[in-house]
Amino acid sequence: MVKINKLEIENVKRVKAVQIEPTANGLTVVGGRNGQGKTSILDSIAWALGGNAYKPSNPLREGSVVPPVIKIQLDNGLIVERKGEDGKLKVTDPSGKKAGQNLLNSFVEQFAINLPKFMEMNAKEKTKALLNTVDGLGEKLFQIEQEELEIYNKRRTVGQIRDQKKHFAEEQPFFKEVGNELVSASELIKEQQEILAKNGENQRKRDNLDNLQARKVFAENKKAELEAQLKELNLNLEQLNSDIEIANRDVIDLIDESTEELERSIENIEEINRKVRANQDRERAEKDAEEYKNQYEDLTNSIEELRKQKIELLNGANLPLEELSVDNGVITYKGQPWDNMSGSEQLIVATAIVRKINPQCEFVLVDKLEQMDLETLVDFGNWLKNNNLQAIATRVSTGEECQIIIEDGYVKNKKTEAPSWENNVGGSF
Ligand SMILES: Nc1ncnc2c1ncn2[C@@H]1O[C@H](COP(=O)(O)OP(=O)(O)OP(=O)(O)O)[C@@H](O)[C@H]1O
Ligand SMILES: [Mg+2]
Repeated sequence: MVKINKLEIENVKRVKAVQIEPTANGLTVVGGRNGQGKTSILDSIAWALGGNAYKPSNPLREGSVVPPVIKIQLDNGLIVERKGEDGKLKVTDPSGKKAGQNLLNSFVEQFAINLPKFMEMNAKEKTKALLNTVDGLGEKLFQIEQEELEIYNKRRTVGQIRDQKKHFAEEQPFFKEVGNELVSASELIKEQQEILAKNGENQRKRDNLDNLQARKVFAENKKAELEAQLKELNLNLEQLNSDIEIANRDVIDLIDESTEELERSIENIEEINRKVRANQDRERAEKDAEEYKNQYEDLTNSIEELRKQKIELLNGANLPLEELSVDNGVITYKGQPWDNMSGSEQLIVATAIVRKINPQCEFVLVDKLEQMDLETLVDFGNWLKNNNLQAIATRVSTGEECQIIIEDGYVKNKKTEAPSWENNVGGSF
């Protein structure tokens, strides 16, 4: 855990000679009018701690005959010195041992000395940086979002099929008068055969009657011819008469049933069954459409469940700032994505995330803090304090909120005590 105890800068860019002991917890505002050397101070710190990648293109103050010197005392006891236009580095630990840039890199967070670099990253990169601050959070969120995307795509396909199937079912013909059961021809044929058999029997009885009548005629002829046998024949005749009477009774009520309707039905059967099959097809199509409708609803439920999981995961994760979240893959603060946040909100979010990226680094440099009004400035300062964080910031202002005023490359005044406004919103100014 590292903060800046003290810094001394001479002849770097606009700075002539500056000594600052920044507040350990909270905000140190370096104020001053434009072009007086405020940003030069931050650039010097970045160069000293971040290495020659941060070297200003023209570090030596014009007009100076002595080379640039930066000396930074860190609260872990290290003394970092950078001298000369080539920026030669000297790092000394409390026991007098020497070290180099690698040691500095282990605790100096690059974004902390170059916050604009973080602010300029796109939403995706910022989100990645945030998720990386919590172990495994990024992967878990990625997994859930992958799964969500997969189900979402599947649901879209199912939805299209569902609509097609529904449409298809509705377009199928439907014959109300025949219902859904196929008609069987064998039943009708059996019925027909029974009637035909009965009619055959009737015919047989009619034939019998005809036969008897013929025999009667024959017998009457024979009677005339065979007077001698009349007596015997009379008996015979009587018998025949009685048989005829019985047969007559048998025949009298006979009615032949028609098979005409059955024949028509048999002829119609194919036509009926064609319609029934169409009805069955439509029923199947409707079931099919219903099936896809249910599938679609199931998938919708799965998506909702995953979204809930995502929210729970983010709610449970120890994110660096209250009301900071990730919605649909991008950072949000108070529900708004980066480009909807106010300038001061962006600064707070960036600082919070950068602080979490490398917990070793407990300071951050913030240029151009004039975009914060005084109230927001106090809130920001208090938030820094609560998070045990040190910020050195510049602000175009010579007001009371500035602990240090820079003028013409020098510190104009220097307050050692924390000013009254820090804990007192809308107080003395
Ligand atoms: N090597 C240098 N020697 C002398 N002057 C320089 C050098 N480099 C930059 N300057 C001058 O310093 C001024 C910028 O300094 P700096 O950025 O520190 O000012 P600032 O206080 O942050 O101003 P602002 O409020 O406008 O941001 C410019 O006017 C520039 O001409
Ligand atoms: Mg500036």
